Amino acid sequence: MTKMKSLLDAGSEEFRANDAFYRAKVAELQSLRRLQRVGGPESARKRHVDKGKLLPRERVERLLDPGTPFLELAELAGLNKYEGVPPGASIITGIGLIEGRYCMIIANDATVKGGTYFGMTCKKHVRAQRIAWANRLPVITLVDSGGAFLPDQENIFPDEGQFGSIFYQQIGMSGEGVPQIAVVMGPCTAGGAYIPALCDEAVIVRGQGFMYLGGPELTFAATGERVDNETLGGGKMHCSVSGVTDHLAENDAHALAITRNIVKHLGEKPQPRKTPLAPQPPAYPVEEIYGIVSRDAKVPTDNREIVARLLDGSEFHEFKPLYGDTLMTGWGRIHGHEVGVLANTGVLFVESALKAAHFISLCVQRDIPLVFLADVSGFMVGRDVEQAGIAKAGAKMITAMSSAKVPKFTVITGGSYGAGYLAMLGRPFRPDATFAWPTGRAAIMGPEQVASVLAQVRAQINEREGKSWTREEEEAFKAPIRKEYEDFQGAYNFASNLWIDSVIEPCETRDVLAMMLDITSRRPKVETHFGVFRM
Ligand code: COA
Repeated sequence: MTKMKSLLDAGSEEFRANDAFYRAKVAELQSLRRLQRVGGPESARKRHVDKGKLLPRERVERLLDPGTPFLELAELAGLNKYEGVPPGASIITGIGLIEGRYCMIIANDATVKGGTYFGMTCKKHVRAQRIAWANRLPVITLVDSGGAFLPDQENIFPDEGQFGSIFYQQIGMSGEGVPQIAVVMGPCTAGGAYIPALCDEAVIVRGQGFMYLGGPELTFAATGERVDNETLGGGKMHCSVSGVTDHLAENDAHALAITRNIVKHLGEKPQPRKTPLAPQPPAYPVEEIYGIVSRDAKVPTDNREIVARLLDGSEFHEFKPLYGDTLMTGWGRIHGHEVGVLANTGVLFVESALKAAHFISLCVQRDIPLVFLADVSGFMVGRDVEQAGIAKAGAKMITAMSSAKVPKFTVITGGSYGAGYLAMLGRPFRPDATFAWPTGRAAIMGPEQVASVLAQVRAQINEREGKSWTREEEEAFKAPIRKEYEDFQGAYNFASNLWIDSVIEPCETRDVLAMMLDITSRRPKVETHFGVFRM
């Protein structure tokens, strides 16, 4: 292995200005996270606690092995989407250890609009299930929800990927032996009642958890029958009469203790298929990334310096360093786990795309996970590259990337545009996880480019119609287009729409990837069948 050599001047004015800019961005991320972690309004939290219930985050904490990390996913989903709803879309999802076993935890936050499901809540629940399914993680759902947020019907009810998909996936996972446990800690009405009913084992809290297809009011309206909550769907009734739930708990803490016991008896824990080496920190401080990424989005980042700060010991065995040098490819380790890294160092050319395809196929053959560090303005255009067959070289890269069934992850570190975004393991290619740094952005093209393209189209139409426009008119035409793309491309918009799994900051990247690498190393190997490579 070769230790990468850094040429960074950490004492420069430029470095200091970038560093200050990036630290402000990290502070913004932390403040958004704090907002999400608080949950609903104080009055709702007080009412929740006054009922003797633990707050959702306390529930998650008690469920996990003490002192172990919780990798929260989609924490900013729904950011700025729903009035009066903090980021997170009224649900917490993430991976943590219970009795030494990785589990996916899904917990409704009843302090946010009664824990009801918005469109984004459904999408987040479904995404968490997909990650669990792919990695055969037991799913523990802490249910405390009023079911559908009724005004958002179109985003909840009719389509695939919405509420109904939660059930579909529960059944699919169950068929493949992925354990599922529900803890009924609050109301579970209508569709929501099927979540615990479709689980392997269900715990319910006495006097607090209720499960029914129709509550007392609906029952009265539909049938004229008067019946109280407890008789209709209480814990004692379900554990002793209907058999809909299996374990009766006296309170939240008791329910969580029972749940930990259930996890203890899920059988043999999956073992990693790989033996990681002893973790080592990079040879250069990771924080220096703050000063390396320019505060001016137009200035390209020297991603060689970034890679040097993400790998153990900054050791990198580079593949084809002299060929297709707008893409770096090579092997290194993250907290001891071996990875194949692809990092952009310029626009993608024929040679870099071919190198990517070659490198990915090597990683597949060696069963090594892939990490894409995406920061690319796209593929090269023009006569020379077209005649050199850039379309088929790009197709090879995309075929290799898409076909590869080794664990694969994307970190959008900078601006990732157009087909470049897709080729660097964009979301449509189903990465095991996608993260973005606060400086990460993605769009069909950059704001300036799109404004120019559309202005050019407009100018041609003007010419055809014998009209002309002044510089000011052109600028007035361009400004809103530029703004729209600027708003679209940001990491937080991607997080809000769940086009990424989380915004993470550079200093968290190694820990997050290492945990994902550990999790994915415990699932069975999946064979890759490459599609046809156009030669
Ligand atoms: N759709 C839309 N909004 C809902 C809702 C739903 N299904 N259920 C609750 N809300 C809203 C309330 O309007 C209230 O909004 P506000 O904060 O703007 O005032 C907020 O969620 C909290 O509701 P509240 O009733 O004050 O909280 P609670 O803790 O006392 O009770 C529930 C929570 C979920 C038990 C109760 O609201 C309820 O029974 N909701 C209806 C559940 C239902 O029948 N769902 C069927 C879905 S198919």
